Amino acid sequence: MGRHLVAAIRLRHCDWPTTRGYYMIHVYLDDSATTKVNSSVVDEILPFLTQKYGNPSSQHEFGHIASQALTKAREQVSRFLGCTPWEIVFTSSATESDNMAIKGLVWERLAKGQSPHIIMSAIEHQAVTETCYNLREYFGCSVTRIPVDGYGMVDPDSVRRAIRPETAIISCLYANGEVGTIQPILEIANIAHEYGITFHTDAVQAAPWLVCNLENTGADLLSLSGHKVYGPKGVGVLFIRKGLRIIPLINGGSQEFGLRSGTENVPLIVGLGVATELIQRQRELGLNHVLTLRDKLIKSVLGKIEGVQLTGHPTQRLPNHASFVFENVDAMLLLDELSERGIMASSGAACSSRDIQKSHVLVAMGLPATLIEGSLRLTLGYETTEDEIDYVIELLPEIISDIRRHSPNFN
Ligand SMILES: Cc1ncc(COP(=O)(O)O)c(C=O)c1O
Repeated sequence: MGRHLVAAIRLRHCDWPTTRGYYMIHVYLDDSATTKVNSSVVDEILPFLTQKYGNPSSQHEFGHIASQALTKAREQVSRFLGCTPWEIVFTSSATESDNMAIKGLVWERLAKGQSPHIIMSAIEHQAVTETCYNLREYFGCSVTRIPVDGYGMVDPDSVRRAIRPETAIISCLYANGEVGTIQPILEIANIAHEYGITFHTDAVQAAPWLVCNLENTGADLLSLSGHKVYGPKGVGVLFIRKGLRIIPLINGGSQEFGLRSGTENVPLIVGLGVATELIQRQRELGLNHVLTLRDKLIKSVLGKIEGVQLTGHPTQRLPNHASFVFENVDAMLLLDELSERGIMASSGAACSSRDIQKSHVLVAMGLPATLIEGSLRLTLGYETTEDEIDYVIELLPEIISDIRRHSPNFN
């Protein structure tokens, strides 16, 4: 391992004690799971924890300060999405936003005595799939899952064919987090609107990399998460197009225009607002750098290792996203081996990475179970360096061949 350590000297080390000590190398390639909070975001958040801690509903100076901070954050997010501040609702997460969008709309239709039909793509995040299945199980709604091709791409014509007179909502994510494929959502939104159907997109994974404004997405409902855009965890956004009626999931003190009760989490909302502002600048400055590194990584992995396949679309993919399946490799073992060397990666969605057999995205793309078992996702961030990518390129072929040598199927 000596020569790797020489290369590794240029890599980032931790200045806080981790389970593996202070000076272990850390190459973080798991931005799709979560991102590091930008230090400017932290600076903006801190005063709202310790000094400006008022409740935005209070009628005194601290309350006014908190309320003004909320207004500012709402304006920042509305600029990010190209909508008005009154169309922004702050939530606790993108999971809540997805639930609120789909349940809120469907409940409104149920309340009118209708029996809504829901269309979603086969590669939605669980925050959407489980919400739809809940509506099917407990409210009798019918749900259609639109299949994807081998690249994880939804065909807008299949969406059109699935529409019924009672279709209430179509949900299709902007980009998939497991394989990075970017979906033709504007086309799908236009089809939905042709039939007077509401269109929801989960733009969580797209937000750090793609322009998410309404012109590009055509969304009536759009979900975002703070911790995917270099902001804090535990805060999300739901954009609700003006005039669209949804029933709130959470009732109480009528915060967030009566749509999401509960005292607003001012520090996190402030952080999210600043993060959406910073990410637009980062995108302008850093996108090409990330793209170049990502392409180098993909080219090297495909060139240096046998029995490997890129998953997701070769070109219509997020600029930071590299995902593969390896023959004769147990991904759990691979993640452990990478982690031993300080490389943090993932296999499928982070929340289900211990359960990769069930990656519904890879299954929907038609990949056999044997390949799904060997899936690896490496997602870069704006801070990823060339030395870090070189370190991975140097180590990965060796790790893969070691695993294969010890695999019972190796010949
Ligand atoms: C596409 C997508 N939607 C929703 C979520 C859930 O976001 P949150 O952690 O804010 O609930 C994730 C998280 O990975 C995601 O990738």
